[in-house]
Amino acid sequence: MVKVLMVCLGNICRSPLAEGILKSKTFLKDVQVDSAGTSNFHIGSKPDLRSINVARKHNIDITNQKGRQFVVSDFDKFDIIYAMDNSNYNNIISLARDENDRTKVKLILNEVFPGENLDVPDPYTGGIQGFDSVYRMLDEACELISKKIV
Ligand code: 4NP
Repeated sequence: MVKVLMVCLGNICRSPLAEGILKSKTFLKDVQVDSAGTSNFHIGSKPDLRSINVARKHNIDITNQKGRQFVVSDFDKFDIIYAMDNSNYNNIISLARDENDRTKVKLILNEVFPGENLDVPDPYTGGIQGFDSVYRMLDEACELISKKIV
């Protein structure tokens, strides 16, 4: 069993999409996927309607997800922790207790562009096109991730 955690700031736009996409690509595999936010802004909330709609366009249902905040014990529960951007990455790393925790944390777009440390841009304050573009980036990353993990 491989356990993967997707993390962004609010856990309502990017990481719920990443969770839904990776689940859709790994449902026949022994993989567990969850998501969380580094902030406490949207604890208990459903994903943003624009993420719900872009997922639905691709036949992925993320309506049952609920926002939660990243907690230190996530380092014990998950094997790989994917940060959506450098700010999320730094926030997670600042909570790491040791080197073992730190090695679990990766920037998700480094799966597509190794070593480039690119961000999945925060689409929250922009329009719907931002969500389409985030979807495409996450779909490409999750395709590679699903092939890599057993
Ligand atoms: P996310 O987007 O990190 O992709 O979920 C955001 C959602 C909400 C806020 C910021 C980013 N906010 O400031 O409320």
